[in-house]
Amino acid sequence: MTRRHWIGGCFFAPELAFAQHAAIAGAVPPGTIWLNANESPEGPPKSAVAALRKAAADAGRYSHRAFPDIERAIAAAVGLGPEQILLGSGSSQVLHCALQAFTGPGRGFVTSWPTWEMCAEMAGRLGAHVVKVPMTRTWAVDVERMAQEARRLPSGLVHLGNPNNPTSSMTPPAAISWLAENLPEGWKVLIDEAYMDYVPDSEQAGGIRLVKQGRPVIVTRTFSKLFGLAGARIGFGCARPELVAEMRPFRENVVSILGARAAVAALAEGPDFVARRRESRLQVRAGFCRWLDSRGLEYIPPSANFVLIHVRRPVTGVIPALIRRGIAPGRRFDSLDGWLRLTIGTRAEMDKVTTHLPAVLAG
Ligand SMILES: Cc1ncc(COP(=O)(O)O)c(C=O)c1O
Repeated sequence: MTRRHWIGGCFFAPELAFAQHAAIAGAVPPGTIWLNANESPEGPPKSAVAALRKAAADAGRYSHRAFPDIERAIAAAVGLGPEQILLGSGSSQVLHCALQAFTGPGRGFVTSWPTWEMCAEMAGRLGAHVVKVPMTRTWAVDVERMAQEARRLPSGLVHLGNPNNPTSSMTPPAAISWLAENLPEGWKVLIDEAYMDYVPDSEQAGGIRLVKQGRPVIVTRTFSKLFGLAGARIGFGCARPELVAEMRPFRENVVSILGARAAVAALAEGPDFVARRRESRLQVRAGFCRWLDSRGLEYIPPSANFVLIHVRRPVTGVIPALIRRGIAPGRRFDSLDGWLRLTIGTRAEMDKVTTHLPAVLAG
């Protein structure tokens, strides 16, 4: 059970601190494939590994003086100014900063449901009034209902994932623009875009265009997924400068220089690198979806590097059966009892899934 701690006027919830829900405890068979945390099977690009090695020599210092250049490089890559960027130990830390700056007692947190639960859990523990708005039948965010719920409280955060985890579904850009334009005074939109790098038209689909328009929007991005740097713990948020200034004091630690240098090297690979990684994952995903179709297994049309499959039986039974066969799948998500989330791995890894999943589902 997660405990809340107030120490010196600050809030700590250690077990919630980072993307830990995906952890699988205990022994697993040798050669287990890891399709549980939506990581990249390719790992970091070589340039980022080289940057990590080089940065190891700087590990004796906090490296404060290096960060302005690092923020400038990340800002330039997304077309914003450095004062619009907040670096974090993974995007988790930036999400925490937004929650601490903009929710709390007397304030609201309106989220789309189901989604990755960390933000709602944290907002609840911070004392915010949490409202979970069900997704539409097409697994989009119900923006009108969310705006309606926001009108009941004086201020807070409306939160959504795009693409959403665990559904892998997208909410159309027009709906998100509508939300940003129709929120009551005192409210902000927090858009978690951990998987946006997998969306081919991410510039139109993503929320950074709303930040550029000066809307009250905070967008979080991460190097943990497509860039293959989950263990290096580096992500960032984008928002208007005064929103970044409000969030910054809640970043309770210095970002690791190793992760930051690796991120800059990975970004320097450029848009072609992102497109190549995205295309190879989407090709494997398309092949896997064809296999699901051939088996008559229902799934939500995916937009990210994972698929949510309707296995129509308690997934709490399916998960250990897959682990016994050397496949570590996604965990159970609230309100999605009969659904299994699988990360799209390499072609060989997905072949292992297609070999074993039928027997597990027949069992
Ligand atoms: C939707 C979503 N947001 C944020 C995160 C946090 O990732 P990180 O802190 O590694 O950037 C995850 C991790 O799995 C995620 O699925």
